[in-house]
Amino acid sequence: MEVVIVPDAKAGGELVARGIADLLRHKPHALLGVATGSTPLPVYEALAALARTGRADMSQVRIAQLDEYVGLPSGHPESYRSVLLREVVGPLGLSPEAFMGPDGTAVDLPTACAAYDSALAEAGGVDLQLLGIGTDGHIGFNEPCSSLASRTRIKTLTQQTLADNARFFDGDVDQVPQHVITQGIGTILEARHLVLLATGKGKAEAVASAVEGPVAAVCPASALQMHPHATVVVDEAAAGGLRLAGYFRHAYANKPEWQGL
Ligand code: GLP
Repeated sequence: MEVVIVPDAKAGGELVARGIADLLRHKPHALLGVATGSTPLPVYEALAALARTGRADMSQVRIAQLDEYVGLPSGHPESYRSVLLREVVGPLGLSPEAFMGPDGTAVDLPTACAAYDSALAEAGGVDLQLLGIGTDGHIGFNEPCSSLASRTRIKTLTQQTLADNARFFDGDVDQVPQHVITQGIGTILEARHLVLLATGKGKAEAVASAVEGPVAAVCPASALQMHPHATVVVDEAAAGGLRLAGYFRHAYANKPEWQGL
């Protein structure tokens, strides 16, 4: 696992966007796993700026959704599909056909979950999966004590996540769906490169557990320790709980140029 400490969220967004642009130079039709929440927004903004100036070729990229609320009507502005159409597909000028995601409105949810896992595999697997982290250490919507081998399935949100996400639903926790579909931790670990971005003091404890704590289902993001190519990009505030911050800074300052992100 590589930990990169950046000055702020904007710098983190630019670093990750440059990494995605590099990937697209080598593999223009890469399958990019995208996340929602506030944290990845600077990545999408930086990527759109690279695309506008001809430094990222988004013409063949395909994108895959990480998770989705269950039961929001199709087209609801806070469904993750709507959020990603608004924040990623539109600004990057992608065609909606290049975008795949789980169906949170399906009548038969277990079948829809299994179908999404199969669709990801049939698409050749995710090349780079962008991840945020919940304050309780969740990735996607894999809440604490999710199986580290889990596949795409239905989960029930914790009270903490419901409260965290209420800001997208007029601050009303009762409007946040209790149930979600999420790529499982086992599914996420199949992506070729995992890039977790965390910014702000509120994420410091979760980041410290994920990076320096034991690999344990109680902190789902700690599963990244088992991945051969995982990059954790944190701003100074989110790095606040890391004991090895000095080492991470030293390693990154001396990183050979050819290694890329
Ligand atoms: C949600 C999403 C996660 C995201 C998390 C953190 O629960 N399902 O993918 O990482 O929120 O969101 P934020 O980046 O807004 O803190």
